[in-house]
Amino acid sequence: MNTSKIGFIGGGNMASSLINGLCQSGHKPENIWVSDINANVLTTLNSSLNVNTLTDNIELLNNVDVVVLAVKPQVLKQVALTLASALSQKPILVISIAAGISQASLSHWLGESLAIVRCMPNTPALVLTGATALHANSNVTATQRDLAENIMRAVGIALWVEQESALDAVTALSGSGPAYFFLMMEAMENAALSFGLSHDIARLLIQQTALGAAKIALESEESPEQLRFRVTSPGGTTEQAIAAFQQGGFNELVGTALTAAK
Ligand SMILES: NC(=O)c1ccc[n+]([C@@H]2O[C@H](COP(=O)([O-])OP(=O)(O)OC[C@H]3O[C@@H](n4cnc5c(N)ncnc54)[C@H](OP(=O)(O)O)[C@@H]3O)[C@@H](O)[C@H]2O)c1
Repeated sequence: MNTSKIGFIGGGNMASSLINGLCQSGHKPENIWVSDINANVLTTLNSSLNVNTLTDNIELLNNVDVVVLAVKPQVLKQVALTLASALSQKPILVISIAAGISQASLSHWLGESLAIVRCMPNTPALVLTGATALHANSNVTATQRDLAENIMRAVGIALWVEQESALDAVTALSGSGPAYFFLMMEAMENAALSFGLSHDIARLLIQQTALGAAKIALESEESPEQLRFRVTSPGGTTEQAIAAFQQGGFNELVGTALTAAK
């Protein structure tokens, strides 16, 4: 993959994370091209990561083997329609990271015979700990699947889903998921402050606890439920807290929240 020429249309938050991850994982900056309407974005990317920058999306297509569409969903249709003619001449793999834009819409705007991968990354990509789910349309070859997966793997884990509809569930789970954990951290911090702990101590303890719990869950073969039982001694303090969560309908509330996101 290190020799593939990768283009990004839109060089904002998510594209910058991906480009940063690609550079850190050994992809040569001279093989990365970014186009954006915002000159400041391009200047920052060029000076910090030394990648090629352009203001013309069509010219970008002439330079690359794969293009990542990384503009906001609300401008994607307009951007895609302007690319269709150039892509019919040079049918490269297109990867869309836009939330909520279907394969059918992408094919309709860009070209029905085009190889398109639709994926849903999340913001921990910024710190190379992202979680991305990908879905390929029937035009995508095995080599193109590998290329798309490797690009997303540069910033974390990457998993394929067979049904496109699963991406809506993924959006509700890992796409929006970081905010759920931040909400939990916020609520724990408020409780800790009310106990008289200092802001700095409370925040650091919560952050390290979240990191530790995630590491144990990742490294263990056991389910979250089994892990919870392990740290919940009968009659102990944790049991009191878990009982309060359950009496307050915690599990049902999480289900309702994720359903709302989906
Ligand atoms: N951030 C996330 O957590 C997240 C998670 C999953 C998926 N995504 C998806 O990632 C995509 C990008 O999100 P983001 O947060 O990175 O957005 P962003 O920071 O706003 O970046 C988008 C960039 O595209 C530029 N742009 C707008 N119109 C353009 C055009 N016609 N040609 C080229 N560039 C153009 C924007 O410039 P202006 O600012 O001047 O308009 C901006 O610099 C979205 O589709 C989103 O659904 C994001």
